[in-house]
Amino acid sequence: MTRKFIVGGNFKLNGSQSSLKTLVEGLNQGDLDSNVEIVVSPPFVYLDQVRKAVRKDVAVAGQNCYTKSSGAYTGEVAAEMLKDIGIEWVILGHSERREIFKETDEEIGLKVAHALKAGLKVMACVGEKLEEREADKTTDVVFRQLAAIAKHVSDWTNVVVAYEPVWAIGTGKVATPDQAQEVHKAIRGWLKEKVSAEVAEATRIMYGGSVNGGNAATLAREEDVDGFLVGGASLKPEFVTICNAKA
Ligand code: G3H
Repeated sequence: MTRKFIVGGNFKLNGSQSSLKTLVEGLNQGDLDSNVEIVVSPPFVYLDQVRKAVRKDVAVAGQNCYTKSSGAYTGEVAAEMLKDIGIEWVILGHSERREIFKETDEEIGLKVAHALKAGLKVMACVGEKLEEREADKTTDVVFRQLAAIAKHVSDWTNVVVAYEPVWAIGTGKVATPDQAQEVHKAIRGWLKEKVSAEVAEATRIMYGGSVNGGNAATLAREEDVDGFLVGGASLKPEFVTICNAKA
């Protein structure tokens, strides 16, 4: 089976109306590989601006959403609200949500389930910290995070897994192609064993962590690397190079 390559740009807590206008204009003028699915994820308040301005072959993602549809949850955003304004995707379980905002595996599993039920596609993030890798616990951690998601997911069609080793995020210390491939292969193996061979074969596994215009093409050659989730470099013109890395 051929899995369609997918590249996400996670803008995190960055941007303004003016800077995102410029960024979107750059993307709109870019010569993007039509075989690649591209998704950009600005902060909530700019989702509508970006969705309206960006070319129609680029989708838009929220960077988070809550486990409830409505109610007294000050400061939260519902998956249904993202759908309501035409957003197709959401990033869930990012390590910054896990670390800074103390989201638990269980909460992330519930968020994934709720977002899927609301009709969003989900980039579900997993990844180990440096000390966990050094203690040889990489797959233990990643499998634990996956299990918490799998517990709540019966249909994987709209789920993409993003493997983001925490030590590689925003550090300039990208995983080597071998390191990325090793974990991606393990994730696919886990999906095969715990979910099904069909889901393992069809589910895309993105790599995230210091991907840039210089290292993307080499990583993209790995058999189980089906895309990238890009942070810092998604705010720069080199994002187009990353989107075209598989070509
Ligand atoms: O969601 C994106 C990742 O956290 C990667 O961020 O490309 O800045 O390392 P980065």
